[in-house]
Amino acid sequence: MGDPDMMAHLGGPESQEQILRRHQRYIHLPESGIDHMFKIVWGPNAEGVGNVGYWRKTWREQAVYETGWLVLPAYQGRGIATEATRAVIEHARLEPKYQFMHAFPSVSNAPSNAICRKLGFTLVEECQVEYPPGHPMTVNDWRLDLYEK
Ligand SMILES: CC(C)(COP(=O)(O)OP(=O)(O)OC[C@H]1O[C@@H](n2cnc3c(N)ncnc32)[C@H](O)[C@@H]1OP(=O)(O)O)[C@@H](O)C(=O)NCCC(=O)NCCS
Repeated sequence: MGDPDMMAHLGGPESQEQILRRHQRYIHLPESGIDHMFKIVWGPNAEGVGNVGYWRKTWREQAVYETGWLVLPAYQGRGIATEATRAVIEHARLEPKYQFMHAFPSVSNAPSNAICRKLGFTLVEECQVEYPPGHPMTVNDWRLDLYEK
């Protein structure tokens, strides 16, 4: 989260203080019973190589899930983010509180857009969001129907 390359599509690097705050927030997310952030572990030693999660969001006046992912550079390009996202979709499908899961990768984030396409999300439209607040970004709105299996 502090690395400029890793955060190029996520509004730029965060400060140490912001990262610690975010970490505390992630730890307490499951208390909501809705939001989840998982550590991705990989290999025989179950090394921590990234994170993937989903959380409630109000989008177009509807409650939906949003999902997002991150894999450390040394582990990228091996299909890890794709498999981790597949796993959270299965997790969300166990007891979906909302019908739709969205992902909002920057239009220029080729791997993330590829992940959405491969996992069966439908491209709704290109739109403007602020992420983080005050930082405009052009993203693709990808949507997955959790009721369809
Ligand atoms: C996005 C990210 C998580 C992808 O992680 P990863 O583990 O390398 O992803 P995968 O290996 O599962 O690959 C995803 C797909 O993207 C494709 N891909 C990778 N780079 C690409 C590029 N430049 N152009 C087109 N497709 C690309 C891969 O080929 C793969 O598709 P394939 O299996 O059909 O070949 C990782 O790059 C990352 O953490 N980036 C920084 C944080 C970030 O941007 N998070 C996403 C916010 S929405």
